[in-house]
Amino acid sequence: MQRILVTGGAGYIGSHTCLRLLEEGYDVLVVDNFCNSKSESLERVKQITGRSLTFYEVNICDRNAMQKIFEAHDIDAVIHFAGLKAVGESVQKPMEYYYNNVYGTLVLCEEMAKAGVKNIVFSSSATVYGLSDDVPFAEDAPTSATNPYGRTKLFIENILSDLKIADKDWSITLLRYFNPVGAHKSGLIGEDPNGIPNNLMPYISQVAVGRLEKLQVLGDDYPTTDGTGVRDYIHVMDLAEGHVKALQGPKIENGPAIYNLGTGKGNSVLEVVKAFENENGIEIPYQIIARRAGDVASSYADPSKAEKHLKWKAKLNLQDMVRDAWNWQKKNPEGYA
Ligand code: NAD
Ligand code: UD1
Repeated sequence: MQRILVTGGAGYIGSHTCLRLLEEGYDVLVVDNFCNSKSESLERVKQITGRSLTFYEVNICDRNAMQKIFEAHDIDAVIHFAGLKAVGESVQKPMEYYYNNVYGTLVLCEEMAKAGVKNIVFSSSATVYGLSDDVPFAEDAPTSATNPYGRTKLFIENILSDLKIADKDWSITLLRYFNPVGAHKSGLIGEDPNGIPNNLMPYISQVAVGRLEKLQVLGDDYPTTDGTGVRDYIHVMDLAEGHVKALQGPKIENGPAIYNLGTGKGNSVLEVVKAFENENGIEIPYQIIARRAGDVASSYADPSKAEKHLKWKAKLNLQDMVRDAWNWQKKNPEGYA
Protein backbone atom coordinates (compact mmCIF):
# COMPACT_ATOMS: atom_id res chain seq x y z
CA MET A 1 0.00 0.00 0.00
CA GLN A 2 1.10 3.56 -0.64
CA ARG A 3 2.85 5.54 2.09
CA ILE A 4 1.63 9.13 2.49
CA LEU A 5 3.47 11.89 4.34
CA VAL A 6 0.95 14.28 5.91
CA THR A 7 2.36 17.65 6.98
CA GLY A 8 0.23 19.32 9.64
CA GLY A 9 -1.46 15.97 10.20
CA ALA A 10 -2.19 16.61 13.89
CA GLY A 11 -4.34 19.65 13.04
CA TYR A 12 -8.07 19.87 12.50
CA ILE A 13 -8.36 18.82 8.85
CA GLY A 14 -5.14 16.80 8.92
CA SER A 15 -6.25 14.52 11.76
CA HIS A 16 -9.55 13.72 10.02
CA THR A 17 -7.70 13.05 6.77
CA CYS A 18 -5.17 10.75 8.52
CA LEU A 19 -8.13 8.81 9.89
CA ARG A 20 -9.63 8.33 6.40
CA LEU A 21 -6.24 7.39 4.94
CA LEU A 22 -5.72 4.73 7.61
CA GLU A 23 -9.25 3.41 7.06
CA GLU A 24 -8.44 3.11 3.34
CA GLY A 25 -5.32 1.09 4.14
CA TYR A 26 -2.65 3.72 3.42
CA ASP A 27 0.46 3.92 5.58
CA VAL A 28 0.60 7.34 7.20
CA LEU A 29 3.54 9.43 8.38
CA VAL A 30 2.87 12.76 10.04
CA VAL A 31 5.18 15.77 10.32
CA ASP A 32 3.87 18.43 12.70
CA ASN A 33 5.56 20.86 15.09
CA PHE A 34 2.35 21.10 17.18
CA CYS A 35 2.37 24.90 16.96
CA ASN A 36 -1.43 24.79 16.63
CA SER A 37 -2.31 21.24 17.69
CA LYS A 38 -1.60 18.48 20.18
CA SER A 39 -0.28 14.97 19.65
CA GLU A 40 -3.40 13.71 21.46
CA SER A 41 -5.34 14.12 18.19
CA LEU A 42 -3.09 11.49 16.61
CA GLU A 43 -3.44 9.16 19.61
CA ARG A 44 -7.19 9.34 19.10
CA VAL A 45 -6.90 8.69 15.37
CA LYS A 46 -5.00 5.51 16.28
CA GLN A 47 -7.68 4.63 18.83
CA ILE A 48 -10.53 5.08 16.34
CA THR A 49 -8.90 3.21 13.47
CA GLY A 50 -7.06 0.56 15.45
CA ARG A 51 -4.05 1.28 13.24
CA SER A 52 -0.78 2.92 14.00
CA LEU A 53 0.95 5.84 12.34
CA THR A 54 4.39 7.36 12.67
CA PHE A 55 4.86 10.94 13.64
CA TYR A 56 7.75 13.36 13.73
CA GLU A 57 7.71 16.52 15.81
CA VAL A 58 9.46 18.56 13.16
CA ASN A 59 9.08 22.00 11.63
CA ILE A 60 8.77 21.70 7.85
CA CYS A 61 11.19 24.67 7.59
CA ASP A 62 13.93 22.46 9.13
CA ARG A 63 15.65 21.23 6.00
CA ASN A 64 17.93 18.68 7.68
CA ALA A 65 15.11 17.06 9.60
CA MET A 66 12.94 16.93 6.48
CA GLN A 67 15.76 15.39 4.48
CA LYS A 68 16.23 12.67 7.10
CA ILE A 69 12.53 11.78 6.99
CA PHE A 70 12.59 11.41 3.20
CA GLU A 71 15.78 9.31 3.47
CA ALA A 72 14.31 7.05 6.13
CA HIS A 73 11.04 6.23 4.36
CA ASP A 74 9.85 5.28 0.95
CA ILE A 75 7.16 7.93 0.49
CA ASP A 76 4.72 7.92 -2.42
CA ALA A 77 2.93 11.24 -1.98
CA VAL A 78 2.60 14.22 0.33
CA ILE A 79 -0.56 15.90 1.59
CA HIS A 80 0.52 19.34 2.72
CA PHE A 81 -1.64 20.90 5.45
CA ALA A 82 1.09 22.50 7.58
CA GLY A 83 0.62 26.23 7.74
CA LEU A 84 -0.57 29.12 9.85
CA LYS A 85 -4.16 30.10 9.13
CA ALA A 86 -5.42 33.02 11.24
CA VAL A 87 -6.29 35.96 8.99
CA GLY A 88 -6.05 38.68 11.69
CA GLU A 89 -2.77 37.34 13.05
CA SER A 90 -1.33 37.29 9.53
CA VAL A 91 -1.91 41.05 9.27
CA GLN A 92 -0.01 41.56 12.57
CA LYS A 93 2.79 39.09 11.82
CA PRO A 94 3.16 38.90 8.03
CA MET A 95 6.78 37.74 8.12
CA GLU A 96 5.89 34.72 10.26
CA TYR A 97 3.20 33.78 7.76
CA TYR A 98 5.44 34.15 4.72
CA TYR A 99 8.28 32.27 6.42
CA ASN A 100 6.21 29.42 7.79
CA ASN A 101 3.82 28.93 4.88
CA VAL A 102 5.84 29.95 1.82
CA TYR A 103 9.39 29.08 2.90
CA GLY A 104 8.11 25.89 4.56
CA THR A 105 6.57 24.83 1.24
CA LEU A 106 9.80 25.59 -0.64
CA VAL A 107 11.81 23.41 1.75
CA LEU A 108 9.23 20.65 1.55
CA CYS A 109 9.18 20.62 -2.26
CA GLU A 110 12.96 20.75 -2.55
CA GLU A 111 13.34 17.79 -0.21
CA MET A 112 10.58 15.95 -2.06
CA ALA A 113 12.32 16.50 -5.39
CA LYS A 114 15.67 15.31 -3.99
CA ALA A 115 13.99 12.14 -2.79
CA GLY A 116 12.16 11.69 -6.10
CA VAL A 117 8.73 12.17 -4.50
CA LYS A 118 6.82 14.32 -6.98
CA ASN A 119 3.20 14.04 -5.92
CA ILE A 120 1.72 16.73 -3.68
CA VAL A 121 -1.79 17.67 -2.62
CA PHE A 122 -1.89 21.20 -1.21
CA SER A 123 -4.43 22.85 1.13
CA SER A 124 -5.48 26.00 -0.60
CA SER A 125 -8.54 28.01 0.29
CA ALA A 126 -11.58 29.75 -1.12
CA THR A 127 -9.91 32.86 0.23
CA VAL A 128 -8.10 33.02 -3.16
CA TYR A 129 -11.38 34.22 -4.73
CA GLY A 130 -10.77 37.47 -2.83
CA LEU A 131 -13.53 40.03 -2.43
CA SER A 132 -15.51 38.86 -5.43
CA ASP A 133 -19.22 38.25 -4.93
CA ASP A 134 -19.68 36.53 -8.26
CA VAL A 135 -20.94 33.24 -6.81
CA PRO A 136 -20.75 30.34 -7.28
CA PHE A 137 -16.98 30.34 -7.77
CA ALA A 138 -15.61 28.01 -10.43
CA GLU A 139 -11.89 27.20 -10.43
CA ASP A 140 -11.20 29.54 -13.35
CA ALA A 141 -12.64 32.59 -11.54
CA PRO A 142 -10.18 35.48 -11.01
CA THR A 143 -8.04 35.17 -7.89
CA SER A 144 -6.76 37.82 -5.49
CA ALA A 145 -5.86 38.23 -1.84
CA THR A 146 -6.74 40.80 0.78
CA ASN A 147 -4.42 39.78 3.62
CA PRO A 148 -1.05 38.05 4.12
CA TYR A 149 -2.65 34.69 4.90
CA GLY A 150 -4.55 34.73 1.62
CA ARG A 151 -1.42 35.89 -0.19
CA THR A 152 0.54 32.90 1.13
CA LYS A 153 -2.10 30.62 -0.43
CA LEU A 154 -1.91 32.47 -3.76
CA PHE A 155 1.90 32.55 -3.75
CA ILE A 156 2.08 28.83 -3.01
CA GLU A 157 -0.46 28.05 -5.75
CA ASN A 158 1.73 30.03 -8.17
CA ILE A 159 4.98 28.45 -6.98
CA LEU A 160 3.57 24.95 -7.37
CA SER A 161 2.18 25.84 -10.82
CA ASP A 162 5.65 27.01 -11.91
CA LEU A 163 7.16 23.82 -10.54
CA LYS A 164 4.79 21.79 -12.70
CA ILE A 165 5.66 23.86 -15.80
CA ALA A 166 9.37 23.29 -15.16
CA ASP A 167 9.07 19.56 -14.51
CA LYS A 168 6.11 17.64 -15.92
CA ASP A 169 6.90 14.64 -13.71
CA TRP A 170 5.26 16.47 -10.81
CA SER A 171 1.67 15.73 -9.96
CA ILE A 172 0.28 18.79 -8.21
CA THR A 173 -3.22 19.12 -6.82
CA LEU A 174 -4.48 22.37 -5.32
CA LEU A 175 -7.60 21.89 -3.22
CA ARG A 176 -9.53 25.06 -2.46
CA TYR A 177 -11.57 24.39 0.65
CA PHE A 178 -14.66 26.39 1.46
CA ASN A 179 -15.70 26.41 5.17
CA PRO A 180 -14.73 23.16 6.92
CA VAL A 181 -16.82 22.40 10.02
CA GLY A 182 -18.01 19.43 12.08
CA ALA A 183 -16.07 16.49 13.42
CA HIS A 184 -15.73 12.72 13.15
CA LYS A 185 -18.92 11.05 14.37
CA SER A 186 -17.10 9.41 17.30
CA GLY A 187 -16.65 12.85 18.90
CA LEU A 188 -13.06 11.83 19.70
CA ILE A 189 -11.42 14.24 17.27
CA GLY A 190 -12.53 17.72 16.23
CA GLU A 191 -11.61 21.37 15.94
CA ASP A 192 -9.74 22.78 18.96
CA PRO A 193 -8.84 26.41 18.25
CA ASN A 194 -6.43 28.30 20.49
CA GLY A 195 -8.02 31.19 22.38
CA ILE A 196 -11.28 32.76 21.26
CA PRO A 197 -12.37 31.23 17.96
CA ASN A 198 -12.30 33.43 14.85
CA ASN A 199 -14.64 31.17 12.91
CA LEU A 200 -18.38 30.77 13.23
CA MET A 201 -18.92 27.09 14.06
CA PRO A 202 -16.37 26.74 16.88
CA TYR A 203 -17.69 30.00 18.30
CA ILE A 204 -21.26 28.65 18.34
CA SER A 205 -20.09 25.38 19.92
CA GLN A 206 -18.27 27.25 22.67
CA VAL A 207 -21.36 29.35 23.39
CA ALA A 208 -23.37 26.10 23.57
CA VAL A 209 -20.94 24.55 26.04
CA GLY A 210 -20.86 27.70 28.19
CA ARG A 211 -17.29 28.82 27.50
CA LEU A 212 -18.55 31.96 25.73
CA GLU A 213 -21.59 34.03 26.62
CA LYS A 214 -23.13 34.80 23.26
CA LEU A 215 -22.42 34.83 19.56
CA GLN A 216 -21.70 38.10 17.82
CA VAL A 217 -23.29 38.04 14.38
CA LEU A 218 -20.99 40.14 12.26
CA GLY A 219 -23.40 42.24 10.21
CA ASP A 220 -27.03 41.82 9.14
CA ASP A 221 -27.06 44.29 6.28
CA TYR A 222 -25.55 42.14 3.52
CA PRO A 223 -27.50 41.62 0.30
CA THR A 224 -28.47 38.06 1.33
CA THR A 225 -31.79 36.43 2.24
CA ASP A 226 -31.67 37.49 5.90
CA GLY A 227 -28.85 40.06 5.72
CA THR A 228 -26.19 37.83 7.35
CA GLY A 229 -23.16 36.41 5.54
CA VAL A 230 -23.59 33.30 3.41
CA ARG A 231 -20.90 30.58 3.27
CA ASP A 232 -20.45 27.10 1.88
CA TYR A 233 -20.01 24.95 5.01
CA ILE A 234 -18.53 21.54 4.32
CA HIS A 235 -18.28 18.61 6.73
CA VAL A 236 -14.65 17.88 7.59
CA MET A 237 -15.19 14.15 6.85
CA ASP A 238 -16.33 15.02 3.30
CA LEU A 239 -13.22 17.16 3.02
CA ALA A 240 -11.04 14.30 4.26
CA GLU A 241 -12.60 12.04 1.64
CA GLY A 242 -11.77 14.67 -1.00
CA HIS A 243 -8.07 14.23 -0.16
CA VAL A 244 -8.25 10.48 -0.58
CA LYS A 245 -9.94 11.01 -3.96
CA ALA A 246 -7.33 13.62 -4.92
CA LEU A 247 -4.54 11.08 -4.33
CA GLN A 248 -6.32 8.73 -6.71
CA GLY A 249 -7.28 11.44 -9.23
CA PRO A 250 -6.21 11.66 -12.87
CA LYS A 251 -2.74 13.03 -13.56
CA ILE A 252 -2.90 16.31 -15.46
CA GLU A 253 -0.10 17.11 -17.91
CA ASN A 254 -0.29 20.84 -18.49
CA GLY A 255 -0.49 22.37 -15.04
CA PRO A 256 -1.68 21.76 -11.54
CA ALA A 257 -5.07 20.15 -10.98
CA ILE A 258 -7.24 22.67 -9.15
CA TYR A 259 -10.45 21.68 -7.40
CA ASN A 260 -12.96 23.43 -5.19
CA LEU A 261 -14.05 21.34 -2.23
CA GLY A 262 -17.43 22.68 -1.18
CA THR A 263 -21.05 21.56 -1.22
CA GLY A 264 -22.19 24.19 -3.70
CA LYS A 265 -24.81 25.34 -1.22
CA GLY A 266 -24.65 28.54 0.83
CA ASN A 267 -26.11 29.05 4.30
CA SER A 268 -26.43 32.29 6.22
CA VAL A 269 -25.11 32.82 9.75
CA LEU A 270 -28.66 32.78 11.13
CA GLU A 271 -29.48 29.56 9.24
CA VAL A 272 -26.46 27.91 10.85
CA VAL A 273 -27.53 29.15 14.30
CA LYS A 274 -31.08 27.86 13.76
CA ALA A 275 -29.84 24.49 12.47
CA PHE A 276 -27.58 24.13 15.54
CA GLU A 277 -30.45 25.00 17.88
CA ASN A 278 -32.97 22.68 16.22
CA GLU A 279 -30.64 19.70 15.82
CA ASN A 280 -29.12 19.90 19.29
CA GLY A 281 -31.95 21.42 21.33
CA ILE A 282 -29.77 24.21 22.70
CA GLU A 283 -30.46 27.90 22.45
CA ILE A 284 -27.64 30.06 21.10
CA PRO A 285 -27.98 33.63 22.35
CA TYR A 286 -26.69 36.14 19.83
CA GLN A 287 -26.32 39.82 19.19
CA ILE A 288 -25.95 41.58 15.85
CA ILE A 289 -22.89 43.79 15.61
CA ALA A 290 -21.04 45.54 12.78
CA ARG A 291 -19.53 43.78 9.77
CA ARG A 292 -15.99 42.38 10.03
CA ALA A 293 -13.50 44.04 7.69
CA GLY A 294 -12.67 41.84 4.72
CA ASP A 295 -15.85 39.73 4.86
CA VAL A 296 -17.85 39.19 1.68
CA ALA A 297 -21.64 38.80 1.54
CA SER A 298 -21.69 35.39 -0.12
CA SER A 299 -19.12 32.73 -0.90
CA TYR A 300 -19.96 29.27 -2.22
CA ALA A 301 -18.44 26.80 -4.60
CA ASP A 302 -19.24 25.44 -7.97
CA PRO A 303 -18.10 21.91 -6.99
CA SER A 304 -18.84 20.26 -10.36
CA LYS A 305 -15.20 19.91 -11.45
CA ALA A 306 -14.28 17.74 -8.45
CA GLU A 307 -17.38 15.64 -9.05
CA LYS A 308 -16.46 15.11 -12.70
CA HIS A 309 -12.73 14.44 -12.38
CA LEU A 310 -12.32 13.09 -8.84
CA LYS A 311 -15.72 11.38 -8.54
CA TRP A 312 -16.06 13.24 -5.27
CA LYS A 313 -19.17 14.94 -3.94
CA ALA A 314 -20.02 16.16 -0.44
CA LYS A 315 -22.54 13.80 1.15
CA LEU A 316 -23.17 15.29 4.58
CA ASN A 317 -25.58 18.18 5.16
CA LEU A 318 -25.84 21.08 7.59
CA GLN A 319 -27.71 18.96 10.15
CA ASP A 320 -24.83 16.45 10.15
CA MET A 321 -22.32 19.28 10.53
CA VAL A 322 -23.99 20.97 13.53
CA ARG A 323 -24.72 17.61 15.22
CA ASP A 324 -21.14 16.41 14.90
CA ALA A 325 -19.66 19.78 15.88
CA TRP A 326 -21.70 19.67 19.09
CA ASN A 327 -21.00 16.00 19.77
CA TRP A 328 -17.25 16.77 19.74
CA GLN A 329 -17.59 19.93 21.85
CA LYS A 330 -19.82 18.42 24.53
CA LYS A 331 -17.57 15.38 24.91
CA ASN A 332 -14.48 17.62 25.00
CA PRO A 333 -15.53 20.92 26.56
CA GLU A 334 -11.91 22.07 26.77
CA GLY A 335 -10.82 20.46 23.49
CA TYR A 336 -7.80 18.15 23.79
CA ALA A 337 -6.58 19.88 26.97
P1 NAD B 1 -4.68 23.55 11.91
O1 NAD B 1 -3.97 24.73 12.46
O2 NAD B 1 -5.59 22.79 12.79
O3 NAD B 1 -3.64 22.53 11.27
C1 NAD B 1 -2.40 22.93 10.74
C2 NAD B 1 -1.33 22.04 11.37
O4 NAD B 1 -0.06 22.39 10.82
C3 NAD B 1 -1.23 22.20 12.87
O5 NAD B 1 -1.23 20.91 13.47
C4 NAD B 1 0.10 22.91 13.09
O6 NAD B 1 0.68 22.54 14.31
C5 NAD B 1 0.88 22.44 11.89
N1 NAD B 1 1.95 23.33 11.44
C6 NAD B 1 1.88 24.66 11.16
N2 NAD B 1 3.07 25.12 10.76
C7 NAD B 1 3.93 24.07 10.76
C8 NAD B 1 5.30 23.90 10.44
N3 NAD B 1 6.06 24.94 10.04
N4 NAD B 1 5.85 22.67 10.55
C9 NAD B 1 5.11 21.61 10.96
N5 NAD B 1 3.81 21.72 11.29
C10 NAD B 1 3.23 22.93 11.19
O7 NAD B 1 -5.47 24.06 10.61
P2 NAD B 1 -6.52 23.30 9.69
O8 NAD B 1 -7.82 23.99 9.85
O9 NAD B 1 -6.45 21.85 9.88
O10 NAD B 1 -5.97 23.70 8.26
C11 NAD B 1 -5.08 22.88 7.55
C12 NAD B 1 -4.69 23.59 6.25
O11 NAD B 1 -5.86 23.91 5.51
C13 NAD B 1 -3.96 24.91 6.49
O12 NAD B 1 -2.96 25.05 5.49
C14 NAD B 1 -5.06 25.94 6.26
O13 NAD B 1 -4.54 27.18 5.82
C15 NAD B 1 -5.89 25.28 5.18
N6 NAD B 1 -7.27 25.74 5.18
C16 NAD B 1 -8.03 25.67 6.32
C17 NAD B 1 -9.33 26.14 6.31
C18 NAD B 1 -10.17 26.10 7.57
O14 NAD B 1 -11.19 26.77 7.62
N7 NAD B 1 -9.83 25.33 8.58
C19 NAD B 1 -9.89 26.66 5.14
C20 NAD B 1 -9.09 26.71 3.99
C21 NAD B 1 -7.79 26.23 4.02
C1 UD1 C 1 -12.56 32.98 7.36
C2 UD1 C 1 -11.39 33.77 6.81
C3 UD1 C 1 -10.89 33.10 5.55
C4 UD1 C 1 -10.49 31.66 5.86
C5 UD1 C 1 -11.71 30.95 6.45
C6 UD1 C 1 -11.40 29.55 6.85
C7 UD1 C 1 -11.69 36.11 7.47
C8 UD1 C 1 -12.04 37.49 7.01
N1 UD1 C 1 -11.81 35.13 6.54
O1 UD1 C 1 -13.56 32.88 6.37
O2 UD1 C 1 -9.77 33.78 5.03
O3 UD1 C 1 -10.09 31.00 4.68
O4 UD1 C 1 -12.14 31.66 7.62
O5 UD1 C 1 -10.50 29.52 7.92
O6 UD1 C 1 -11.30 35.91 8.61
N2 UD1 C 1 -19.30 35.15 11.70
C9 UD1 C 1 -20.08 35.70 12.68
N3 UD1 C 1 -19.62 35.67 13.97
C10 UD1 C 1 -18.43 35.13 14.31
C11 UD1 C 1 -17.63 34.55 13.30
C12 UD1 C 1 -18.10 34.58 12.01
O7 UD1 C 1 -21.17 36.22 12.41
O8 UD1 C 1 -18.06 35.16 15.50
C13 UD1 C 1 -19.80 35.15 10.31
C14 UD1 C 1 -18.87 35.80 9.29
O9 UD1 C 1 -19.17 37.16 9.15
C15 UD1 C 1 -19.19 34.99 8.04
C16 UD1 C 1 -19.54 33.60 8.57
O10 UD1 C 1 -19.90 33.80 9.94
O11 UD1 C 1 -20.31 35.51 7.37
C17 UD1 C 1 -18.39 32.61 8.50
O12 UD1 C 1 -17.24 33.19 9.11
P1 UD1 C 1 -15.90 32.34 9.35
O13 UD1 C 1 -16.24 31.06 9.99
O14 UD1 C 1 -14.94 33.24 10.05
O15 UD1 C 1 -15.38 32.02 7.89
P2 UD1 C 1 -15.07 33.01 6.67
O16 UD1 C 1 -15.33 34.42 7.00
O17 UD1 C 1 -15.77 32.47 5.48
